[in-house]
Amino acid sequence: MCLRRDSISLRFTAAAKVFILFGDPVAHSLSPVMQNAALQAAGIDGLYIPWRVQSAGLPAAFESLRGMENFGGANVTIPHKEQAFALVDTLTKEAAAVGAVNTIVARGGRLLGANTDGQGFLRSLQEEADFLPCGKRVVIFGAGGAARAVSFSLAEAGAVELTIVNRTVERAQSLAEFVDRETGVSAIGLGPDDPHIPARVRDCTLVVNTTSVGLGPSDPPPIDPALLRPGALVYDLIYRPRETALLREAEKRGCRALGGLGMLLYQGALAFALWTGQTPSEEAMRQAVVDVIA
Ligand code: ATR
Repeated sequence: MCLRRDSISLRFTAAAKVFILFGDPVAHSLSPVMQNAALQAAGIDGLYIPWRVQSAGLPAAFESLRGMENFGGANVTIPHKEQAFALVDTLTKEAAAVGAVNTIVARGGRLLGANTDGQGFLRSLQEEADFLPCGKRVVIFGAGGAARAVSFSLAEAGAVELTIVNRTVERAQSLAEFVDRETGVSAIGLGPDDPHIPARVRDCTLVVNTTSVGLGPSDPPPIDPALLRPGALVYDLIYRPRETALLREAEKRGCRALGGLGMLLYQGALAFALWTGQTPSEEAMRQAVVDVIA
């Protein structure tokens, strides 16, 4: 069998392992093209498919995995990472600590929930921006599953102060309390119009957008760009479009701006290794993604 998706030719047999991406929406995701490239490069008989599902349908979707003999593994994206945490059978140490799942590994009919977002994010920060969180103040926009992994990994890596800003203030406060309690790092949760935001943004060396604001071509930045301090690093987890309004405005103000391509790649490479026991070709994964968004 052979089919084409974007620039990848897939070869698989009827015995192929099936890998799945759960999300809503999923059409923007480059995980399918990236993971299929990794499967092909490793010579694995498998294919990675998007499965768009609403929250109400997620429990049944996960249940069907338990009886799927050729299930290879899965990823979970917006908005299901926290719900997935509650639906799997067991958890890795990272996923249990973070409270969100972005990777599912098949374990003899049971589902192991893992989280590779935090490690992928930290590696991207270090390798692409030479940024080490130790001793740094950070402002994070969003309080969903991705924000949980980002906040937790920054706190574990030695950040000294986290400000979490979210449209739904209760969610920001609850994540801040969680980080504070679990890591001892000072964290505060604020609503989008809180008067403390300008000072917090001016004082920080890293601003991270974990919200989906920016996925749409006409989405505004999730923050007033005038608040950004020149020299600060602005990281947008969004990788498509490659340059969001936030990153564009940040560059104009003399900030360093980094999109989420590196995090996508590194979290995906870790997920692949968990599913297959093999180290994937990161070069093949990167090339497949770059070919699509170039
Ligand atoms: P993920 O697991 O990928 O983080 P999520 O849990 O759905 O996905 O989180 C998405 C984040 O984007 C949330 O912080 C969400 O804010 P709410 O908690 O208020 O829902 C944020 N978000 C999504 N759409 C938004 C919008 N239009 N404006 C502001 N924030 C938005």
